[in-house]
Amino acid sequence: MNKKEFLTEFLKPEKNNIGAVAPSSKYLVKKMVDPIDFTKVKCIVEFGAGTGNITKELLNRMPQDSILIAFEINKEFCEKLKEINDPRIKIISDTAENLESYMVKHNILKVDYIVSSLPFTIIPNAIVKNILKIAQKVLTPKGAFIQYQYSLNAYSKLKNTFKKVDLNFTPINLPPAFIFTCTN
Ligand SMILES: C[S@@+](CC[C@H](N)C(=O)[O-])C[C@H]1O[C@@H](n2cnc3c(N)ncnc32)[C@H](O)[C@@H]1O
Repeated sequence: MNKKEFLTEFLKPEKNNIGAVAPSSKYLVKKMVDPIDFTKVKCIVEFGAGTGNITKELLNRMPQDSILIAFEINKEFCEKLKEINDPRIKIISDTAENLESYMVKHNILKVDYIVSSLPFTIIPNAIVKNILKIAQKVLTPKGAFIQYQYSLNAYSKLKNTFKKVDLNFTPINLPPAFIFTCTN
């Protein structure tokens, strides 16, 4: 799916939860995956995988015996994600809020990293809080929740959930993006 097709999805009136006019740039993708220590990774979860720009870079760097669980609620984007031919990925066409039930299904006790593009500014506050609570709970002690946003609005919610929140920024994205790396 190219940038024009992504924008077409964004403009569909019933698809008001995409939260971006274009997929992540390669600069943003790099800043999202660079905080990850891939050497001991067993399981990574992605929230809001979209058309797979971050997904593909995760798979490039993940060990062969690891697993990537990618959540995406947009059906067209899920079809696109299914074109990724890699036995390590499980594409979940459901909301990120249901992470724990899929962990049970796939026999996963803890998650090393959660990489999230969820558009927190357009998701109801109670749902954001619930997603963050679940994320904090399922991470390993050395794990991290990595999130990008186009504003600093989510900063206080992240700081209320995690012990430490590191902030990064890339101007080379449409629009420019803040990257939050949150640890317990
Ligand atoms: C800003 S786009 C990011 C797409 C892609 N990760 C990228 O960086 O190019 C956010 C994605 O989150 C998805 N999304 C929104 N709410 C969600 C939810 N509750 N659970 C899973 N995915 C969700 C949207 O459909 C959209 O594809």
